[in-house]
Amino acid sequence: MRTHEAGALHADVTEPASSILRPPRDLSTLDSRVWSRNLRRNADGALALSGVDVRDLAAEYGTPAYLTDEADFRDRCREFARAFEGAEVHYAAKAFCSTQVLRWIAEEGLALDVCTGGELAAALRAGFPPERITFHGNNKSVSEMDGALAAGVGTVVLDSFVEIARLAGVAQQRGVRQRVLVRTTVGVEAHTHEFIATAHEDQKFGFSLASGAAAEAVRRVLALPSLDLAGLHSHIGSQIFDTSGFEVSARRAVGLLAAVRDEHGAELSTLDLGGGYGIAYTWRDDPVDIPTLAGELTRIVAKECEQAGLALPTLAVEPGRAIAGPPTCTLYEVGTVKDVDGIRTYVSVDGGMSDNIRTALYDAQYTCVLASRASTAEPMLARVVGKHCESGDIVVRDTFLPADVAPGDLLAVAATGAYCRSLASNYNHIPRPPVVAVADGTSRLVVRRETIDDLLNLDVPA
Ligand SMILES: Cc1ncc(COP(=O)(O)O)c(C=O)c1O
Repeated sequence: MRTHEAGALHADVTEPASSILRPPRDLSTLDSRVWSRNLRRNADGALALSGVDVRDLAAEYGTPAYLTDEADFRDRCREFARAFEGAEVHYAAKAFCSTQVLRWIAEEGLALDVCTGGELAAALRAGFPPERITFHGNNKSVSEMDGALAAGVGTVVLDSFVEIARLAGVAQQRGVRQRVLVRTTVGVEAHTHEFIATAHEDQKFGFSLASGAAAEAVRRVLALPSLDLAGLHSHIGSQIFDTSGFEVSARRAVGLLAAVRDEHGAELSTLDLGGGYGIAYTWRDDPVDIPTLAGELTRIVAKECEQAGLALPTLAVEPGRAIAGPPTCTLYEVGTVKDVDGIRTYVSVDGGMSDNIRTALYDAQYTCVLASRASTAEPMLARVVGKHCESGDIVVRDTFLPADVAPGDLLAVAATGAYCRSLASNYNHIPRPPVVAVADGTSRLVVRRETIDDLLNLDVPA
């Protein structure tokens, strides 16, 4: 369900990165916009997360490992709930999905979006209240739909004409009237600082507003007694740093709400504007803060509804990255260091594209620091790379590390909580790293490390 992310902010690979990047004044400084809130440096210069030294975490859980600041994760849930008071805040499970973390989401009172039977199974195992779950996806199978309705999920987002008929049949057979939203494609694509209006009809998700498909979907749903149409949904992209794209999408969706009222006499109760709220991966990123974002979205929807003469619908939002991303960093151990004279130094770590594909996939930028000690060495332009058999196996494309970085050092890469573990692979038969939650000076596993046996057990002997 994710669209691509803009790589507009990364250093142009045709220019030497050193001409674009400037070394920070102090390599040991932790930029608070990028790192989790309870990460500090100890007196001896090593990082400590919620009071636990990362060297101890490396010794206990091994590397690479995703380290999650539980208090920070929960704080971000609360910030969204406070800022969007009166609206529905759904955590998008695709950003990171595990039973313990979904339990945190439930405890913090948020709703939940899942988009496969697998994510739904995790939510149900976590004991997530099914009525607070919304089931998304552009190709839900009959058995996934049946499982969702058997579990009693609150809402299903309909994505195609095939799905309308499919869900109506499943609901009828189960003898239930299922609450649904119609996913609209509003003709807006937004990423980071830019958005393009009228440009994004050509995609697999949703019903096009411009072509009339969305209005036709509404007609068909309203005609089906086993479906209860609650409202409209749209999602316009990811890593969005301002609200201009949402303004256009809200205007267009509210336009359809008004058309539905005029044609059918039905005022739909819910307008879901999706997720996509950006976070800072490097000092160059400047996302809008959550209260400002909430104020803007609420104002935009109120203005559009007033102009259309509609009562205010319940607003729903679906943050994934903005909750799960910043509280987590990845801890790696340096294995080899290779200096390419006059260009850069390659620092190889014990993970790579299997635990973070975003750099290879989206040209994503990250912040990286020496984690296990202090260093007063000069800044050195470095590329942090993994151990996979791909030259594109890059974790951090351009960063400055102390020039004395050496095998055995630990590095930490910031803001890896969203779309890293959830997009992880076993490329080169590398087991996926564990996720460790740290809170109040103690740590525990949220997801254990995969083992080689886990992988080999899938092999069927000849
Ligand atoms: C429908 C929908 N909602 C929410 C999200 C979450 O987006 P983000 O993690 O960027 O907030 C996505 C991500 O692709 C999505 O497709």
